[in-house]
Amino acid sequence: MASLLAPPLGASTAGRRPGQGGIQYRAPSAVAYGRPGRAVRAHKVEIEHEGRFHVIEVEEGATILETALDMGVELPHDCKMGVCMTCPAKLVEGEVDQSGAMMSEDVAEKGFALLCVAQPQTDCKIKTCSEDEYLDEQLVTSKQ
Ligand code: FES
Repeated sequence: MASLLAPPLGASTAGRRPGQGGIQYRAPSAVAYGRPGRAVRAHKVEIEHEGRFHVIEVEEGATILETALDMGVELPHDCKMGVCMTCPAKLVEGEVDQSGAMMSEDVAEKGFALLCVAQPQTDCKIKTCSEDEYLDEQLVTSKQ
């Protein structure tokens, strides 16, 4: 069966004569595939959303939202930049880096996270919450 996909990186058709099948492969380069032998770290994230539980593995440098969406877990979102506040959650356990979020430190310290920018630093348990719950906390904190 013919494939509609382009040849993978590192594949070459150079040197192939007409009628000669197959694709010749070169050894993968470090740039295209990362450093050989270097394991990508990942953290387990348990997500409770609308009464359902999901467990995903989030690779280092990836956000919880993008990984969840890739795994077919539908979570509320819009901007994916930490600005619109449609992806809030409570961090029940664990630690995330969400330095890209427009969120006060006080709100972050109370355990809120914006999943579109939250990158797990440890295994985590999170529970999504409503935008209203998040915004109420943001407003209360900003008045103090
Ligand atoms: S999707 Fe907009 S803040 Fe997360």
